[in-house]
Amino acid sequence: MKALVIGSGAREHALGERLRQERWRVACAPGNAGIARRFPCLPLRLDDPAAAVALARAEEPDLVVVGPEAPLVAGLADRLAAGGFAVFGPTAAAARIEGSKAFAKEVMAEAGVPTAAHATFDQPDAARAHARSLGGRVVVKADGLAGGKGVAVCANVEEAEAAIDAALVRGELGEAGRRLVLEERLEGRELSLMALCDGRSYVLLPPCQDYKRALDGDRGPNTGGMGAVSPPLVSPAPLGPLAEATIAPVVARLADLGTPFRGTLYAGLMLTAAGPRVLEYNCRFGDPETQVLVERIDGFLGEAMLAAARGSLAGSRLGARPGAAAGVVVCARGYPGAPRLGDPLLGIDAAEAVAPLRFAGVGGAPERPVTAGGRVVTVVGHGPDLPAAVALAYRAAALVSFPGARFRGDIGR
Ligand code: AMP
Ligand code: GLY
Repeated sequence: MKALVIGSGAREHALGERLRQERWRVACAPGNAGIARRFPCLPLRLDDPAAAVALARAEEPDLVVVGPEAPLVAGLADRLAAGGFAVFGPTAAAARIEGSKAFAKEVMAEAGVPTAAHATFDQPDAARAHARSLGGRVVVKADGLAGGKGVAVCANVEEAEAAIDAALVRGELGEAGRRLVLEERLEGRELSLMALCDGRSYVLLPPCQDYKRALDGDRGPNTGGMGAVSPPLVSPAPLGPLAEATIAPVVARLADLGTPFRGTLYAGLMLTAAGPRVLEYNCRFGDPETQVLVERIDGFLGEAMLAAARGSLAGSRLGARPGAAAGVVVCARGYPGAPRLGDPLLGIDAAEAVAPLRFAGVGGAPERPVTAGGRVVTVVGHGPDLPAAVALAYRAAALVSFPGARFRGDIGR
């Protein structure tokens, strides 16, 4: 079997490695110079669906896997499916569950999914007044896609007004932030729950915990993700009922709307004292969660993804391997702001001898890689328990070297 994995991050690298372990032939497009050390990477612009269809025609994969949200929201899966390919990833209509936070809130309300109280605004005065009425303890979210940077968790009125003005007055989040969702700020532990979906049924994957803030102790700005562990540090409530409350109703609702969801549905949950609440849905595998997830899934992931793409997932099963995995993201100075780029990426052979590396912001040539993005590489430790996995990940992360390399020191600790 052959898979074409579309995307250029550590998530796509990790999926490709897993499929290879399951004896698939794998090509990645566009991939990056780090992934190209492991399997073929083919040029592709992620915003050029016609080129993706042409590439698929040339490669003749049994399955096309679309990793990132932006091309899914823009309709890449629709185009590939129309070209006759089995595609893992939702249509544009179903991907709105991530592409519009306001739409996601509507679906949650209709489906009876517990979530934070919210209101939607496109006028700054009304948004400010709402934030003040809540004492400033609000979460200000861009409606559209903002690469993990469209959320401000505010502690007071000043912070909330600053976030509102940045988006609605100064337009700093572009079109994505022309409309804002203001949510009540919740407290609790977070959990990432992902399931493969075929439009009607779903198969739950092992739970993960990710670390979104830039700095140790969950301080600093939100990022795309600085690390992940599976299983989570503190075991959550029984997963079956949690998935029945948060995944199943959305799969059913999207099917009822005539836009069945095929691909990975990701629920970002907060486990509050009053019960679980959904913070967001993603229409794809999480990053960096996938880097740890693929170390823990028991069974044939590739076959299950193909079944999901074909709408025949019912009866498939995937389990969780014993043990634990921890992913530490090594990022470039400046991330999540504009990162410093173009530095030689050294020490990767030594690091890979300790733990697998999953490459993201890597350019240059495979034999002379350089930094080319904020999140450069996820180092993945895997062991009999979380402390062992974490120790391996940190031993390897310390060997990756470039000027300004930085990672959180408290992943899984
Ligand atoms: P999201 O992209 O919606 O998952 O938000 C990113 C991060 O912001 C989440 O992982 C949480 O850490 C935080 N967050 C989002 N919504 C809330 C909320 N209602 N209350 C508290 N924290 C939140
Ligand atoms: N790690 C969170 C995400 O992929 O959105």
